[in-house]
Parts: sequence; C-alpha cells; structure tokens
Amino acid sequence: SIQDKISIVQNSYGRCLASGDVLDTFYQEFLGSSPEIKERFKNTDFEKQKKLLKHGINLMIMFAAENLAGKSGLKRIRESHDSKHLNINPKLYDLWKFCLLQAIKSHDYKYNNLVESSWNNVLDKGIRYIKEGY
Ligand code: HEM
Repeated sequence: SIQDKISIVQNSYGRCLASGDVLDTFYQEFLGSSPEIKERFKNTDFEKQKKLLKHGINLMIMFAAENLAGKSGLKRIRESHDSKHLNINPKLYDLWKFCLLQAIKSHDYKYNNLVESSWNNVLDKGIRYIKEGY
C-alpha cells in the first residue's frame, strides 16, 4: 500500500540523514550532472539550501501521504519553481530524481529494490504535481 511505501521511504531517509551529509552528496551529483544546473546555483548558499531541501523532501513525503500540510508546503514550492518565478524547466526533474536516488543509494546501507521503488513512487507523485504547475 502507499502507507507501506511511505514508511519505507521515511526509514530510508532517516538512515541517510544519520549516515552523513546526503544532501551534500546530492548537490555534488546534481551540479556535476550538467552546466545548466551548475549555472542555476552559481550564487547559492549551500548551507542554507541543504536545510531548505531537507525540509522540501519531507514535504514530498507528506504530500505522497496526502497530508494537508504536505500539500500546502508543496504548493509553495510548485509556485517558486514555476515559469513565472525560478522557471525550472520540467525536463530537469528527471535528472533531479536520478541524482537524489544516487545519493540515497550511497547513504542508505539498507538500500534495495523495494526501497528504490518506494522512493520512485513517492517522488513521482510530488514531481508530477510540481510539473503540472509550471
Ligand atoms: C530552491 C526544493 C527541484 C532549482 C529550492 C527551495 C526548495 C527547493 C525547498 C528553496 C526555495 C523555496 O522554498 O522555494 C525542490 C524540490 C525539487 C526541486 C523538492 C524537486 C521536486 C529543482 C530542480 C531545479 C531546482 C529540478 C533545477 C535546476 C532550484 C533553484 C533554487 C531552488 C535554482 C534557488 C536557489 C537559490 O536560492 O540560490 N528548491 N527543488 N530545483 N531550486 Fe529547487
């Protein structure tokens, strides 16, 4: 069920956060993956950004669980990333998800196919919602 997937993802995220700086690994992967991405973050304060993304991923998980606070939090990110604001091309979310899964894979010592498919399910829901607002 979706509830089982949420629990699997929450436990995996907990292991990642306990294991060291998973979001640092993510931003290294993500910025290294394309000059276009690197350019978008050229003025970013990463100590701040990592905290914002840590919360953003929690909102993605809450959104997938159909939690109301998750929905309103993700609505705000959907607006900040839309064509009128940060203008994040919807095609970039595939790369974002790929880099995040790579980072999770290297930080979660219990990573396996079920953990991976659960993350995919949870992230796809939020990503679809954000892209629809572009
Ligand atoms: C800023 C989350 C995907 C580029 C932010 C912020 C959050 C966030 C929480 C802080 C500002 C705010 O709260 O609105 C997410 C989530 C994503 C995602 C959850 C995926 C579902 C992307 C993608 C890009 C991107 C694909 C592509 C380049 C940026 C940039 C900023 C930002 C450039 C501003 C950085 C700065 O202030 O210097 N994101 N983001 N994001 N995001 Fe995303």
